[in-house]
Amino acid sequence: MSQAKYLSIFSPASRRQRQENFENYWQFTQQHGGELFEEEKDLFKKRSRLRHFQENPVQMKRQLVNPEAFYRNYVEMQDDPESLDRMTLMLTGMYKFARHEWAGIKGAWDSVPSMANSYTVEDKISRVHLAEEFCHVRLFDEMFRTCGLDKVQWVPLGPIKEIIYEQFPRFPEFLMSPPAFVTELMGVTFYCHLARLIDELLAEEPEVRQRLRELLDEITIDEVAHVGQRRNFMGPAGIMISRALVKPFYMLFFDDIPEIKYLFDVNQMIKDGIAFDFNELPNHLIEHSWIPSYCKT
Ligand SMILES: [Fe+2]
Ligand SMILES: [Fe+2]
Repeated sequence: MSQAKYLSIFSPASRRQRQENFENYWQFTQQHGGELFEEEKDLFKKRSRLRHFQENPVQMKRQLVNPEAFYRNYVEMQDDPESLDRMTLMLTGMYKFARHEWAGIKGAWDSVPSMANSYTVEDKISRVHLAEEFCHVRLFDEMFRTCGLDKVQWVPLGPIKEIIYEQFPRFPEFLMSPPAFVTELMGVTFYCHLARLIDELLAEEPEVRQRLRELLDEITIDEVAHVGQRRNFMGPAGIMISRALVKPFYMLFFDDIPEIKYLFDVNQMIKDGIAFDFNELPNHLIEHSWIPSYCKT
């Protein structure tokens, strides 16, 4: 048996190692995303990649069975989920997950310092991180368009949740770091499970399947890097709290999205989150992503 290349994301790290890793991540993220366009909340390389997809669109050979069912249920589930086909459920569930991301970053963008006002490497990293998240929403949008859904609106979550998301980045670092890290970890877990579901449900649409996977890979590569980066904000106490938060956090979040239990094994996602160590990720993702030095053997 070949030896595992990477170690648990919950592996310990000294303060000095973490500082070095912030510097290293900062170098990585600048070349990974390219120039930051602060006004547009966008990044040069990400924008070019999205353009490439938009200029070379792929369309389904067979239309979705029931696009009206998607539009009726994507913001709030109106129908009995059992009455919907799996493809529609996957798409409405994907929207609901992405909508939370979008609401979270929209609130955070106005709360964290702009690049001109970022004086520490951590602040600069956080600014680019948020810009990447905005790129993800555009990539999700392109995934919907690829499935023939070009009228998707990004609807705010409602005043209370919006306020929570706005205030969250203002919390002191030691309070904010564990949930922020677990959210990133949950993203990677979800996208790995979603990738397998895309393969299964689009077996008869190989071109669309491949395009959706390419779009999702773009997002997952960033999210894998975010997992390591957010882990890097924490000392031993933060890491202990994070590990304990995985299960309740995943359960609470996925419970809020009615589609999830019809499509995914939440218990397996929790196990995957707790056991996360980069080793199960495909090479083509790892190659373009970032892993903290103390998670490498
Ligand atoms: Fe994201
Ligand atoms: Fe992220």
